[in-house]
Amino acid sequence: MFDPDELEALAEAVRTLELGFVDLNETRPGASSEDVKAVLLRTAERLRDNFPYHHPLYVGQMLKPPHPVARLAYALAMHLNPNNHALDGGRASSAMEKECVAAIARMFGWEACLGHLCGGGTMANFEALWVARELAPGKAIVASSQAHYTHARLSAVLGVPFRSIAADATGRLDPTALERELARGDVGTVVATLGTTSAGAVDPLPRILALRERHPFRLHVDTAYGGYFTLASNLGAEPRAAFDGIGTADSIAIDPHKHGLQPYGCGCVLFRDTAVGRIYRHDSPYTYFSSGDLHLGEISLECSRAGASAVALWATQQLLPLVPGGDFARGLEAGRDAALALHAALARDARFAPLLAPELDIVVWAVRAESASASSARARAVFEAAADESLHLALATFPRAMVEPSGAISRWDADQVVCLRSCVMKPEHGQWMDEILSRLDRAAAAVIA
Ligand SMILES: Cc1ncc(COP(=O)(O)O)c(C=O)c1O
Repeated sequence: MFDPDELEALAEAVRTLELGFVDLNETRPGASSEDVKAVLLRTAERLRDNFPYHHPLYVGQMLKPPHPVARLAYALAMHLNPNNHALDGGRASSAMEKECVAAIARMFGWEACLGHLCGGGTMANFEALWVARELAPGKAIVASSQAHYTHARLSAVLGVPFRSIAADATGRLDPTALERELARGDVGTVVATLGTTSAGAVDPLPRILALRERHPFRLHVDTAYGGYFTLASNLGAEPRAAFDGIGTADSIAIDPHKHGLQPYGCGCVLFRDTAVGRIYRHDSPYTYFSSGDLHLGEISLECSRAGASAVALWATQQLLPLVPGGDFARGLEAGRDAALALHAALARDARFAPLLAPELDIVVWAVRAESASASSARARAVFEAAADESLHLALATFPRAMVEPSGAISRWDADQVVCLRSCVMKPEHGQWMDEILSRLDRAAAAVIA
């Protein structure tokens, strides 16, 4: 939320910005009219019909409040509403975008690369798969069955064959199954997901990379959710090794609007080889005229893009640099510690059965029941009962292979089970864990005799 001090800081920043245009006569409309205020209040009323995403009792889907500095910088940029397509439309904000993207790339060990911000993870993956198709036309794209659903759809949009590879019981891509696919000889690109959407599982990148020696392929790392965890000091050995290998990828998708404390509309795609910029070559006789420097629209599939997203991200990275041991990294570590605490408490609770130990900060658990269908029904009921306790969880469906090892179910009358899922993304979740657990206990008691 904007607090009064923050609003005062914003007003001062707007005055500072206006000094840059002091030679101009004022042309903007004056202060808000009563009509604007009335509509704004009605808007606020409409927005009440939401779950409280900003509050620690929201521990459901991947939703994390933007940092105050991101919100303020975004609002400040609205004074100009720059467009980072061309330097002509967003000179300062394009320079800020280039700095932000370079800082994200450095986090993965890339000193020079091609990249830019984009609408989100789907768009970042789309560009990466499009570039892959241009470099290896006709070749297939493969990803694990736990990869984000949009990879299959994006491949269809691109007219590229897509094949899904089995995930193992821990939700990670199975390298043996991958090798079988690679042996077919038609795979151009492998998508490795470092932080799956449903369970936060981290594909075994070192083992995937080892296969590249026998079967050359292009590697795209979808780390839209997990990417920033490369800064965390409290990962297990296997995810750590996977994150340490990201720099060997050909392309990377990472979402500042997931764990980077940004408003939605902020994804990022990076390419190791700057020469892929030629694939974007196009004529735009009406946009690039004020400078011979790189206009980000020259290396982006989208045309108009919010300069404000770059401004907000730049301000956030100024305050919270992307370095191990820094405040930003500590925030991620705190969420992961809270996820581990939740996992440990669930493992002690006879009513529940966690599927896997969290590799990042997502916890998934089944509700013990006699049959798979009864377990799914109970998970749905606990989800509803928790919401009645103002505790907001999420649900996710998992295949039998991922649920069976938990021992939650005795009779398999369905191939899939609905489980409870929590993205423990907020650093404050640690302090709130006792409260979260006591509300979950009440919700479970209301459902399970
Ligand atoms: C691993 C992964 N890739 C891609 C996406 C899609 O990102 P977006 O929703 O920003 O388009 C998500 C979203 O949750 C994700 O978790």
